[in-house]
Amino acid sequence: MEVNSIKMYHVFMKLKSKRAFAELAEVLKNPEEGGPEIAYWVFEDISSSKWKNLTLITPGRYGDEYPKTYGHYHTSEQMFESSKLISGEGIFLLQKKFYDRNGNWIQNRVESVYFIQAMPGDEMVYIPREFAHSWSNVGNLPLITYDDWIETGQPTHTYAEIRNLKGMAYYLVENPNGQIDYVSNLNYIDNPEPKWVTPEEFNYLTQNKYHEKKQ
Ligand SMILES: [Fe+2]
Repeated sequence: MEVNSIKMYHVFMKLKSKRAFAELAEVLKNPEEGGPEIAYWVFEDISSSKWKNLTLITPGRYGDEYPKTYGHYHTSEQMFESSKLISGEGIFLLQKKFYDRNGNWIQNRVESVYFIQAMPGDEMVYIPREFAHSWSNVGNLPLITYDDWIETGQPTHTYAEIRNLKGMAYYLVENPNGQIDYVSNLNYIDNPEPKWVTPEEFNYLTQNKYHEKKQ
């Protein structure tokens, strides 16, 4: 076969960003404790399939808190994001925006919080726009996840609300017994008790919502 007859789909995976401790400190429970110098790296254009980005989160601790992604809300029209755990042990934290009776978004309050403990192969297929989300690496090896988020050239997500509140509604920590635990972020009011759900349960909940919207 001639070389020029081979149809190839070139993919050039690139380092998109890396999050240094100095930046993540804004959303850590105890930033003065220090920890890994780089919390995570994001690579883009990782494949020609649906998966666009790869995130690699260091193992370790910041004090008693697990390394994590910063956490963000989406601002673009894209309705859903998918996220899949490829390697390592992770907890995906999601918090739903709270709106008052006049429809105003109350940023220091959330309607619900979900913790999803995920293993390799687990995928959250429909992460709706109104859920801020963050991965924590609760294992002792690097955590690798894929997502299908598409950048449009315009800002597609926002970190300001999470920065202003010094993190998501809960911090995931290792307790003195070496177990995964959580601590409420006191910058939020009336934090609801988190719901521990499996990826399948979360997909079921949000898939129903997806089909409601399509009707
Ligand atoms: Fe996202």
